Amino acid sequence: MDLQFKFLLLITILALSEFGVNGDGHGRKLASHPGLSKDYYKHTCPQAEDVIRKAVFDEYDKDSEPAPGVLRLQFHDCFVEGCDGSVLLDGPGTEKTAKVNAELDGFDIIDIAKAAIEAACPGIVSCADVLAFAVRDSVVKMGGEYWEVPGGRKDGRVSIAEHAQAALPEPDYTVPELIANFAAKGLSAKQMVILSGAHTVGAGHCDKFVGRLYNYNEKYYTDPTIDPAYAEFLKQKCPEKYNITTQVENDAVTPDLFDTGYYQGLGEKKGLFTSDQELVLDKRTAKTVKSLLKKDRFLKKFGKAMQALAAVEVKLEGEVRKNCRVVNKY
Ligand SMILES: *[C@@H]1O[C@H](CO)[C@@H](O)[C@H](O)[C@H]1NC(C)=O
Repeated sequence: MDLQFKFLLLITILALSEFGVNGDGHGRKLASHPGLSKDYYKHTCPQAEDVIRKAVFDEYDKDSEPAPGVLRLQFHDCFVEGCDGSVLLDGPGTEKTAKVNAELDGFDIIDIAKAAIEAACPGIVSCADVLAFAVRDSVVKMGGEYWEVPGGRKDGRVSIAEHAQAALPEPDYTVPELIANFAAKGLSAKQMVILSGAHTVGAGHCDKFVGRLYNYNEKYYTDPTIDPAYAEFLKQKCPEKYNITTQVENDAVTPDLFDTGYYQGLGEKKGLFTSDQELVLDKRTAKTVKSLLKKDRFLKKFGKAMQALAAVEVKLEGEVRKNCRVVNKY
């Protein structure tokens, strides 16, 4: 390569990374992506958000159990190939077949929302946008606060289990690992703590935390950062030979409310995963945890952080899938 070409390449890479990373290059985090727009469907499908909201709410009126799972899908989608609906694709070796994604659910809700929007405006609204709208609606339905979701994401055609396994954090991550993991997606340590607040709802299977209960390390049989009574409760739920279907709520204080119980629980040593409990034990994140104990503040910050999450590495070019589970055939 000659020098001039190298220089051009460098400029291109810098420009692309500036665009791809969800910040403005001065350490300040953007709330969303400059290529997304709140008016994106204004002329092509003005009723898009209403149609999706109605479809999602109607399902939750029958059974609201999938709502925390739908919220989780946003995170698991955006951290792998960006927010492009890649987690929704079926088939051998796709992201949803990865071990780290083994317990994902809520896909049916997205199918139902997509079917409703296809009936209203065929071929217009991407699965990535359907997911972002449905996630916001799920949080509102659970008692969270509304936030604006700009549209314009296109759907990806790549979904590889190994990529999911490499990109998504594990429940035993420490704070420095979590910070690095989120930074790789342009999200700050604060945003990481705020997004962890999604654990105010939902539940985790025994395998995700059983390592904290038995034979923890050479010094402690049980992780000493767990409240002893809570550790006993967890051992009842998950004996050493646990049932793989058993789940324990992430928020030990108010498991069914979209509130600050999760952060309160961390202060009481009732974080379910290592990656939860550590947030209050590490200097880098403890202050943010404390600041989120105020419910109004948490709900506002959560919406803003979700906007940032739903803007990670979005594709402005690509297809609008007909069916969220398969790429389009040409
Ligand atoms: C595991 O738990 C489920 C749900 O409670 C139950 O139906 C099943 O029989 C249990 N399996 C074993 C092996 O105990």
